[in-house]
Amino acid sequence: MEEKKTYYITTPIYYPSGNMHIGHTYTTVAADTMTRFKKMQGYDTYFLTGLDEHGQKIEKKAQEAGVTPQQYVDKIAEETKALWKLMGIENDDFIRTTEERHMKIVQKIFRQFYDQGDIYKSEYEGMYCTPCESFWTPTQLVEKDGQKVCPDCGRPCQPMKEESYFFRMSKYQDWLIDYIETHPDFIQPAKRANEMINNFLKPGLQDLCVSRTSFSWGVPVDFDDKHVVYVWIDALSNYISALGYGTDHDELFRKYWPADVHLVGKEIVRFHTIYWPIMLHALGLPLPKQVFAHGWLLFGMDKMSKSKGNVVYPQPIVERYGVDALRYYLMREMPFGADGNYTNESFLTRMNADLANDLGNLVSRTVAMLEKYFDGVIPAWTNVTDETVDAPLWEHCAKLPKLVEEQMDKLQFSQALSEIWKVIGECNKYIDVTQPWVLGKDPDKKNRLSTVLLMLAECVRFVAVLIRPFMPSTPDKIFAQLGISDPLLRSWDSLSCFGTLPAGLKVKKGDALFPRIDVQKELEVLSGKAEKKEEKDAAKQEKKEQKAEKKQEKKPIPEGCIGFEDFEKIQLRVARVLDCERVEKSEKLLKFRLSLGSEERTVLSGIAKFHTPEELIGKKLILLANLAPRKIMGIESQGMLLSAVRQNEDGTETLRLLTADPIMPDGAEIG
Ligand code: ME8
Ligand code: MG
Repeated sequence: MEEKKTYYITTPIYYPSGNMHIGHTYTTVAADTMTRFKKMQGYDTYFLTGLDEHGQKIEKKAQEAGVTPQQYVDKIAEETKALWKLMGIENDDFIRTTEERHMKIVQKIFRQFYDQGDIYKSEYEGMYCTPCESFWTPTQLVEKDGQKVCPDCGRPCQPMKEESYFFRMSKYQDWLIDYIETHPDFIQPAKRANEMINNFLKPGLQDLCVSRTSFSWGVPVDFDDKHVVYVWIDALSNYISALGYGTDHDELFRKYWPADVHLVGKEIVRFHTIYWPIMLHALGLPLPKQVFAHGWLLFGMDKMSKSKGNVVYPQPIVERYGVDALRYYLMREMPFGADGNYTNESFLTRMNADLANDLGNLVSRTVAMLEKYFDGVIPAWTNVTDETVDAPLWEHCAKLPKLVEEQMDKLQFSQALSEIWKVIGECNKYIDVTQPWVLGKDPDKKNRLSTVLLMLAECVRFVAVLIRPFMPSTPDKIFAQLGISDPLLRSWDSLSCFGTLPAGLKVKKGDALFPRIDVQKELEVLSGKAEKKEEKDAAKQEKKEQKAEKKQEKKPIPEGCIGFEDFEKIQLRVARVLDCERVEKSEKLLKFRLSLGSEERTVLSGIAKFHTPEELIGKKLILLANLAPRKIMGIESQGMLLSAVRQNEDGTETLRLLTADPIMPDGAEIG
């Protein structure tokens, strides 16, 4: 059997110093889109994302939160995974730099560099920016209000000196310049390659500081335990440690390395195109085929970032408008490589124009007319065509897959979508020109009408197949409306020939794919949500302060009571019942599938004698959400539903589950 071509794509591993926002979502959605695309084209794909969990900043954050660094990152890791699940991300692995499998390899790599003389010990002196975890040379600092500040974030730096290990980058400089110049695809967009050569390589590479003694939350240097490996050797190695490089089971590494593309934001392109290639070369490994630096999502004029706190989170947007709308917007709004502003207004406007109007209308009109004129059955192709109106659309749609592929191979997501939407626009015009409702009045025009509607249905099918990488659920809704269940008709290969939609499929009108929205009204809703979040944060802060005050008073807690700190550990949440059924072979147990907004839970409850499953579906119940999971009859129950019990006079009991006010959103915190 011929082996499939492989495709290995990665995102940066993000810092879990706060929750992931729409900026991280952007890169991750791009990688997912590309993976789905390559998979459709028959590639054997591997998609890696994860977290970069070490460093001083995490250590500090954990301290502030009163937890260990490991507890701190564990929580964010869970939330990050839940977010990717919500966004429809289908990554093959999720690497965390605190995992043993990773740390061992980092130690091994570090030791090898030391043994072969690439790393040496010396002393470091420089200006340090703590939030960015970056040392800067005096010439790199920028002047702001008479102060020398960090060129990345604009905050003041502190002088710092410590014993460190250094990587002899300078040794590889000429090799790298030559490599970049002879591999024009290696760094994309190309202007980034020029920046690297002119700003960093040609002026002369500084040796890189690769260890720290001033904090301990990192991978220990195993032959000098005062030191921990400092950020980039630790972080960058994830791309190979996740594949089992350097272990006895390195099948994935042998299969997928070198990576086809590392997606990165433009602020870390230097680390991926200078330090990483040099590290790999020093290890005797081939370089990734490409590092693609995309632009920033801006908020106003500023880069959205965790350390600045000016961020937009995807969850409320997805809850209200769906994953597909947000994924579409992220991939459509700005060319991959350029910066762009995120605004609620541009999101809502695109949703209306591109999704509700252009795509939604085309699908609903096509299906509605097939129902009206052909009883919902796709007719057979006849040869009644009108060359002047049919041929251009036919030819355009037939070559659309090729146009999309060209753009996707350059990671030009917005261009690919723009090509698809050109055909959608052309279809809508085709309806205006051919006027099927006029043809429908004339029985002699039945064959002409069938051609028109077939053209449209086939175009809609092409579009649905081509948007599959971008949108996880819309294409299936379209296929369902067209009566297409054969996976072949949803495949990339089925687009090699236009006009193959088989007769006899039964179409069925469904709900609007995307509802038309009132932009002004939605803007208010979205900004209201933002205000609520601020209020909530302020309230949290207040609670924290109250708690600190109470701690100072240190009054003993009366017997039989719990302190506020104890109560705060209890997480009660509003949980909507998505599904409820009896557990087989059990008289007592009901099994619930619950929505907490950003996640789903399975919970068992021994209440089958008191409630029927049917009456509970859709109800909003109260869940003790942080009860340790436990297995009952082989099913893991992830929390406990609260109920009240009445003792009846006849000695029996009546039990009722507690419910929340239905206006409370799924997952609302109770406290
Ligand atoms: O840099 N616009 O982690 P990080 C677009 N751990 N993309 C954005 C963005 C924005 N406003 N904000 C974040 C690190 N991103 C290191 C990486 S890799 C071996 C180590 C995305 O949490 C973008 O991909 O600061 C950017 O490069 C990455 O998140 C930075 O995440
Ligand atoms: Mg960053």
